[in-house]
Amino acid sequence: MRRKLIAGNWKMNGLLADGVSLASQVAELAKPRSHDCDLLICPPFTLLIEALRAVAGTPVAVGGQDCHAKLSGAHTGDVSPQMLTDLGCRYVILGHSERRADHGETDAEVKAKAEAALAANLTPIVCVGETESERDSGKTLEVVGRQLKGSLPEGGTAEKVVIAYEPVWAIGTGRTPTLDEVEEVHAMIRRESGLGAGVRILYGGSMKPSNAKELLALPDVDGGLIGGASLKAADFWAIASACP
Ligand code: PGA
Repeated sequence: MRRKLIAGNWKMNGLLADGVSLASQVAELAKPRSHDCDLLICPPFTLLIEALRAVAGTPVAVGGQDCHAKLSGAHTGDVSPQMLTDLGCRYVILGHSERRADHGETDAEVKAKAEAALAANLTPIVCVGETESERDSGKTLEVVGRQLKGSLPEGGTAEKVVIAYEPVWAIGTGRTPTLDEVEEVHAMIRRESGLGAGVRILYGGSMKPSNAKELLALPDVDGGLIGGASLKAADFWAIASACP
């Protein structure tokens, strides 16, 4: 049985006071009872320490949104996976489509980062997903399959790697694939990842309280990677509460 993971990707949002307040609100909601799903927030680097303090003693884990492929060294402006582990982070999002687009990250770079994350004892959340034109031309499975093969780390296991399927055209747009389309891609990822049936595959892209229940009920959807809706504690909580 795969335990669902509900992960908030705050992206480049949150000044100190807002970030602390959001992490504290999530922590408050998470505290009172035990959960059927794992909970994770991924704030920007500047908020990690305060977010870790805010959720200490609750079931909420904290992760980064990127890391370097080396554990230390002369890489001005970068953050190493070991630095994230050292703070208390347990996960790191890698290869998000915004990083692939804004920073030209390739599959090979994402793979190297994921291997470094594993070496630093972090669980990488490796993101894949097609653009709208790739979907329109019927190439979704081919594109996602290729990204998967190129981006997943050597030596990963179902317990230590998470995959996120995020159609680029669904991110921040309010649009989502149909349930059948989501399930088709997730089932392919499970067959092709090489990580076995136990690997967790998150769906991301305009997941919100109103559609979370049906998405999370799909047989191969093991949680969500939530952007916009993770910036409101109540919405994030409503999605977590929609886990079957
Ligand atoms: P969204 O973003 O929920 O705002 O669509 C998801 C993501 O980019 O991880």
